[in-house]
Amino acid sequence: MQKIFSSLCLNCQYGAQHVLKEEISHCYPDLRFSYSRGAFSTWLFDPVRFKPLDHETMISTGAHCSENHKTNKNTRLLETVFGRSCILSMGKITCPGETDPATMTDAFWNQVVEAIDSVPESPWFSSGIHRIHVWQPDTQEPGKHRFEPGVTSLAQEIQRKIVQNCPGDVKQRLAPNDQDAWQAIEGYLGETCLDCIVVAPDEWWIGTHRVVDEHSRWPGGLLPLQLPSDAVSRAWLKFEEGLRWSGFPIGQGSHCVDIGSAPGGGSQALLARDAFVVGVDPAEMDPAVLAHPNFVHARGKISQLKRKLFRKARWLLTDMNVAPSYTLDALEELACRDDLSIRGMLFTLKLFDWKLATEIPDYVQRIRSWGFSQINVRQLQFNRQEVMVAASR
Ligand SMILES: C[S@@+](CC[C@H](N)C(=O)[O-])C[C@H]1O[C@@H](n2cnc3c(N)ncnc32)[C@H](O)[C@@H]1O
Repeated sequence: MQKIFSSLCLNCQYGAQHVLKEEISHCYPDLRFSYSRGAFSTWLFDPVRFKPLDHETMISTGAHCSENHKTNKNTRLLETVFGRSCILSMGKITCPGETDPATMTDAFWNQVVEAIDSVPESPWFSSGIHRIHVWQPDTQEPGKHRFEPGVTSLAQEIQRKIVQNCPGDVKQRLAPNDQDAWQAIEGYLGETCLDCIVVAPDEWWIGTHRVVDEHSRWPGGLLPLQLPSDAVSRAWLKFEEGLRWSGFPIGQGSHCVDIGSAPGGGSQALLARDAFVVGVDPAEMDPAVLAHPNFVHARGKISQLKRKLFRKARWLLTDMNVAPSYTLDALEELACRDDLSIRGMLFTLKLFDWKLATEIPDYVQRIRSWGFSQINVRQLQFNRQEVMVAASR
């Protein structure tokens, strides 16, 4: 049995488990791999060195990828590229063969109360629990067999049962200011969430996390995005997610260049924000995108086009099915020009071989050398074997 509050639960894209495992072992050598099932894994930590419950003085056990960790109180438990969410474990409940969520929810609340009572001095729960997040780890790669990562109907049903079956005195204690708060799942910065990870119908892991960014607002770090019926490609999903994640102020009148734009799902996410888009691609754009008054198709490879086309560009977006070094060469050429003033870049790097994941720190260094100080890399929920980079000056 794992000790309460001395292990972390992580989830990732299905199929990226081994990459996440390598990343954690490398960046956080003091964490000890403990358990995994599909896209879900747990890691033990030494509570003396790593103090996530003491939020104000939280420290990291190893090297990490972002400076945020040192400066920001609303910091993530871990900084990873491949970890989609990171939850502080409050133990698990297993009732072998039990499929009735009602039975499991009783055990759930008992375990929650026991865990919270074991840390009475902690400031973590001092303002109660604001949200209840129930989610299942992915069971397929995004887009495969029509699977798209998201909160499943089983998870939604269990969330309702957990809220309904919470004993009155426990609810009074954990949601003292707003008894209806648990109806909504969308968290806000600084809020405390209680997590129920349905690894299997008879194996639930319980934990907690703070809302620190766009992804941690949602159960399992899963943004509630659905491909619109008029989207011309799945790329809409990853760019919509990337735009929300990066927080880039791309809106009315923003000038964007979308390299590798065909057929145009990514451009649609920009056009829906009333941005101007120059789409660069030798392939054909979808007629619906071509017909948009804010869209211009620069047909050809990025290396073949006249630079004056990009004069007004402030944002570069790229999604080319080429090696990362090619994408970076193309971006460097534009980002470092004196006659262009690029504010930010949002782009995919295709990891044709998972081994390329070990090159990510070098890619970040290279981008930093172009004058971009804020660089985040994440495998988004709708990225397949690739990562998204958001870089701004
Ligand atoms: C994954 S698709 C892009 C999907 C697109 N972002 C969307 O939103 O629908 C990759 C695209 O990169 C384009 N591409 C590959 N090499 C390119 C280059 N050197 N310059 C411009 N586009 C390129 C391909 O023609 C292809 O259409």
